[in-house]
Amino acid sequence: MTGFIKLIYGDQEFKLPVFEGSEGEKAIDISRLREITGLITLDPGYANTGSCASDITFMDGEKGILRYRGIPVEELAEKATFKETAYLLINGRLPNRDELTSFSVLLNDNSLVHEDLRVFYESFPRSSHPMGILSSMVNALRSFYPELQDLEEEINMTVTRLLSKIRTLAAMSYKISRGHKVVYPRPDLAYCANFLNMMFDSPVKPYEIDEDVVNALRVFWILHADHEQNCSTSAVRLVGSARVTLYAAISAGIAALWGPLHGGANQAVIEMLSDIAENKNMARVVERAKDKKDPFRLMGFGHRVYKTYDPRAKIMKKMCDSLLNKLKISDPLLDIAEELEALALKDDYFIEHNLYPNVDFYSGIVLRAIGIPANMFTVMFAIGRLPGWIAQWKESMDDPNWKLGRPRQIYTGPTQTKLVPIDRR
Ligand code: CMC
Repeated sequence: MTGFIKLIYGDQEFKLPVFEGSEGEKAIDISRLREITGLITLDPGYANTGSCASDITFMDGEKGILRYRGIPVEELAEKATFKETAYLLINGRLPNRDELTSFSVLLNDNSLVHEDLRVFYESFPRSSHPMGILSSMVNALRSFYPELQDLEEEINMTVTRLLSKIRTLAAMSYKISRGHKVVYPRPDLAYCANFLNMMFDSPVKPYEIDEDVVNALRVFWILHADHEQNCSTSAVRLVGSARVTLYAAISAGIAALWGPLHGGANQAVIEMLSDIAENKNMARVVERAKDKKDPFRLMGFGHRVYKTYDPRAKIMKKMCDSLLNKLKISDPLLDIAEELEALALKDDYFIEHNLYPNVDFYSGIVLRAIGIPANMFTVMFAIGRLPGWIAQWKESMDDPNWKLGRPRQIYTGPTQTKLVPIDRR
């Protein structure tokens, strides 16, 4: 606590404590507000509401800073593996060599999924979106692994299982949707390479692992690994607060991430860029984004917290340029994206609204270069975000001040009204 704020309401004065985080962010602690004043707060979209105190991720939206457990995301993207980053987020520190080896062994041991799960995949219509499938399959996993009773053991096993099996489930969904043979995980391949192999290996064309592609995926997943209390993470925490299983909480997070204003934006960006490529309508797209009567928004632009360039977008763009260069790919959508960014950044509307490219603006071009189809883009985001969801869920479960998540509301509907019998309505 770092002082008080005075609240004057009518002829009464109340003192509310101010809480300060380790990076100097301050919040009014309103946990006793209703009890002492009879009032609640109203904050649509929770733009001014801290739902929790958290040790996991620090963001500064004005300065464009993102750190996991204190380590800048730039440094992790340069020097860490995705597995180390996942361990860091979930356990609060980087693993030493022995811990990393044990973690890798556990991930390998848990990489297969029950064969009966394939029946579920085959029952989805072929046109189903892979995010809907992934959300359902993660929830279904619980039915296949109900045996553990002890909570601590269950948490550790479930965490490892989910981290490992999500890759297998995602790749299986892709293979089955194409009517192709499922490729099993391989014990000799590391986390990112193993996923790529499950996605792209085929009996008629063995997949050649390219280190530049593996590296691009590593960076992509690290950049998505956590982002504090975003929509899907808040969904995981809220659903988790009802003490559902981790599977159910993650399944809810995946469903939330699917939305085009959240993780679904990476697919929407590519669709928007493809539309511009086909219809040569960039200026019109920008005009539509500025038109208040039109619900259309420039996808991959803007962020609730960042009011400057998203630090992840900077790394993603650099990596995108380097990957396309190394793979000798010339993607016309990259030229369009660069032109669109330049156009938007010098437009008064985007300047006044502090709208800059976010992580999704260039990520789709990276994923296309890797060979990922557009409808799997948000699944790639989900695999990357899983360690963050788990870390946030675990933190909320261990919180001594834990409470069931249950916001209030201000009712604005009709006051008490009589029921009119049907023949008089
Ligand atoms: N294009 C045009 N106008 C925009 C955009 C955009 N992409 N983003 C925000 N605005 C405008 C908005 O119309 C509003 O204008 P005004 O104040 O004149 O009415 C103002 O900026 C503030 O918008 P908001 O919706 O109140 O702000 P928010 O904090 O709720 O928006 C956002 C955050 C991400 C939902 C929004 O910027 C957006 O819809 N962006 C496009 C979708 C997108 O790229 N999403 C990915 C986000 S990053 C990955 C992730 O974390 O999931």
